Amino acid sequence: STIFLSDYRVPDFLIDSTHLQFELGEDSTSVCSVLAMRRNPDAAEQGAPLKLHGTELELISLAIDGRQLSDAEWSQSGEELIIDNVPSSFSLSCETRLRPQENTSLEGLYKSSGMFCTQCEAEGFRKITYYLDRPDVMSVFTVEIIADKERYPVLLSNGNLMSSEEQASGKSKTVWHDPFPKPAYLFALVAGKLAVVDDQFVTMNGRCVDLKIYVEEKDLDKCDHAMLSLKNAMRWDEEVYGREYDLDIFNIVAVDDFNMGAMENKSLNIFNTSCVLAKPETTTDAGFQRVEGVVAHEYFHNWSGNRVTCRDWFQLSLKEGFTVFRDAAFSSDMGSPTVKRVEDVTLLRTAQFAEDAGPMAHPIRPDSFIEISNFYTVTIYEKGAEVVRMIHTLLGPELFRKGSDLYFDRHDGQAVTCEDFVLAMEDASGIDLQQFRNWYSQAGTPQLMVSGVYDEQTKTYTLSVKQSCPATPGQPQKAPYHIPLAVALIGEAGQLPLNLDGVEADIETADNTERVLNVSLAEQDFVFKDVEEEPVPSLLRGFSAPVKLVFDYSRAQLLRLMRNDSDGFCRWDASQHLGLLEIKSAIATQAALLEPEYIDVCRDILADTSLDAAMVALMLQLPSEAYLAEIIHPVDVHGIHLARESVRKALANALKDELMACYSRCQSNEEYAATAEQIARRSLKNTALSFLMLLQEDRFTQLAVSQFDTSSNMTDRLAALSCLVNSDAEYKAEALQLFYQQWQHEPLVINQWFQVQAMCHLPGTLKTVKELMSHPAFDIRNPNKVRALIGAFCGQNGVNFHSEDGAAYRFLADQVLLLNRSNPQIASRLLVPLTKWRKYLPAAQKLMYAELERILSEPELSSDVYEVVSKSLQDY
Ligand code: ARG
Ligand code: ZN
Repeated sequence: STIFLSDYRVPDFLIDSTHLQFELGEDSTSVCSVLAMRRNPDAAEQGAPLKLHGTELELISLAIDGRQLSDAEWSQSGEELIIDNVPSSFSLSCETRLRPQENTSLEGLYKSSGMFCTQCEAEGFRKITYYLDRPDVMSVFTVEIIADKERYPVLLSNGNLMSSEEQASGKSKTVWHDPFPKPAYLFALVAGKLAVVDDQFVTMNGRCVDLKIYVEEKDLDKCDHAMLSLKNAMRWDEEVYGREYDLDIFNIVAVDDFNMGAMENKSLNIFNTSCVLAKPETTTDAGFQRVEGVVAHEYFHNWSGNRVTCRDWFQLSLKEGFTVFRDAAFSSDMGSPTVKRVEDVTLLRTAQFAEDAGPMAHPIRPDSFIEISNFYTVTIYEKGAEVVRMIHTLLGPELFRKGSDLYFDRHDGQAVTCEDFVLAMEDASGIDLQQFRNWYSQAGTPQLMVSGVYDEQTKTYTLSVKQSCPATPGQPQKAPYHIPLAVALIGEAGQLPLNLDGVEADIETADNTERVLNVSLAEQDFVFKDVEEEPVPSLLRGFSAPVKLVFDYSRAQLLRLMRNDSDGFCRWDASQHLGLLEIKSAIATQAALLEPEYIDVCRDILADTSLDAAMVALMLQLPSEAYLAEIIHPVDVHGIHLARESVRKALANALKDELMACYSRCQSNEEYAATAEQIARRSLKNTALSFLMLLQEDRFTQLAVSQFDTSSNMTDRLAALSCLVNSDAEYKAEALQLFYQQWQHEPLVINQWFQVQAMCHLPGTLKTVKELMSHPAFDIRNPNKVRALIGAFCGQNGVNFHSEDGAAYRFLADQVLLLNRSNPQIASRLLVPLTKWRKYLPAAQKLMYAELERILSEPELSSDVYEVVSKSLQDY
């Protein structure tokens, strides 16, 4: 059944305090709760029955003010337990029995590698006890944990440790108290045999905070990077947002089986091992950066999410969009800002644009959902972050900070809405964001059609901007958006000064060569005066808005941008556009005859040691197949793949010597560090290697073999392995074997081993993937393994997933049906590639559609899978 934002009502009851006692056992766990409840004075109806959420629970006892309720006094309907007559204020006691050992959904209380842990966001708490499991019910929690002290020496929950004692019969008991009222989704519990890495942080006001990272003993050597990232994040939030940590303890726990990246439970963050553990021998540069980003993200939630939380789940982007915006700014400050921006835009323009153009398209504040777990999406997170970023652009850094201070100050301890956030920004800045609010209510990617005309006589340059936004499910028509469009005009010798005619409300930056235009009408002209030469417009600088920009650039104009634009993002984007032209012409002519100017600019960039090596690597990489699938319609996966590969090969051929020189230049024997500079060099080196490998020359294969054999860091080893796996090198089987033998005891490395094979674009990969599913190291219960093998194959291996016989579609549908029973969240996520069926050629469409129908005809579909399948089959 569908839930609507417009049906929101304040809760009928409040829970002032929550006392929980867990007795963790090998067969079952008992949970006793005592809730201090009262009617909400703001509720519409003062005589309403009490309705508690609860799923898959065994109810042992239920009492009000100490009196057991008879069967006639309560009833159950769906996920609700209903008690008709309750006083205006009372104590509710309840005992439930759970079987965490059998909980494969990884939601609620479950076991992972011998330890107990929880995941309650969004609605997992109702799998632990009957409760008002909604984020606007906030309560002060006290938690007692009783467990066998040999098996579970470490017992953790939120807040401060109140007591810890040994009990008779080999058990121990600890009591935790969290002074901050919180919704149930931020509750956490951990019990296990865990080792710990300790550190401390002194806050800006001198509070000394104990930092602890709990892991399995064997992973103690992989915690340094997460700890450093945590301390950097704590300092950064003080310096940039004035936000200080508020308890004496901050815990991180790493678990193997986890549906997502991590969870910001108050003072007890629980992490997927893949987002905490890192060391050079086992972790790639991308892995190091992910750890830094996720550790910061979860830490930042302490303010943007926990101190100020969401009123209801339609407001999810309030905390996620804002927190992603914050973690992106942090990562940008820790590393290379342009590279971080290019990476984020790449994710947005592939995954998010595709989502926004597909059957599951939703505004960053959705109007309705069937299953909230399906809305932890790139739209809520990444587009949500872009929307906050646009507010930052429109207000400028000082007013934005004033706005965030006001937001935190005004709403500390409350559960609020996206509207409250925008209002705080408006109130603090005096800037009108009325029309801007359309970004919250409308789905779809706006398109900006821009053209430019230079008038030699009047020395004016006119930019004409037209905006539109395609229909999305339930939204046939869209109102115009308020779009900040950052622009510059590039002349022969660099940026020109900007004099705008008749535009008042635009924002100018430092030297008057960049302006942020306020685009707000369906069609609008911007006239620049005193323009002494015909310029090339540099548009959407820094990707100032999440839109599709169309400007009919000539090759010559793109070359000027790629060579001269001072905006790193636009320079890179020009390189992508030029690459796109080459690929399009390869598709049209079925041959890759590269334009000489394209080869020249790539050659010059490759030789330019003054450029950031990471940017050089990014500019040389052609637009990904996923990005091309957003631009070329209908999507002929195989045609696109062949054309792109032929352009890559032609480029490699033309620049063979330069690529080789670059490879040698980037090699180094220095000790590994995850610094922006080293990461950049490795990225360029491995980009060069992957080009050279396309040439199928022995000497280049030898290069990959020797890099594989001799490197001590995972970045270089895995890059070499990937090159070998995608080639016909004889050594490939042996390399895979050696790699497995070396790392079989490191699950995170074995995941990479699965993934590199799943992503191989050569024929026969489906067969390999099926075989690997019976490999002893594979485990369908572990989401990381499912993502590494099945997810990577279906989501990131276009040519093989779209094999013309439809075998891979059938394979995916089979896996979805299997996982539908054990882990619905993972099943519905895995399904996403099939839902994009409308984009492809008719024959593919038909095969994909048939598999979706097969899934839909399954009698016992979870709400997760049901929502995604049924919506993807509907017309819109
Ligand atoms: N709030 C978490 C984060 O973004 C995500 C957890 C959501 N988990 C889930 N199973 N839906 O950091
Ligand atoms: Zn988050």
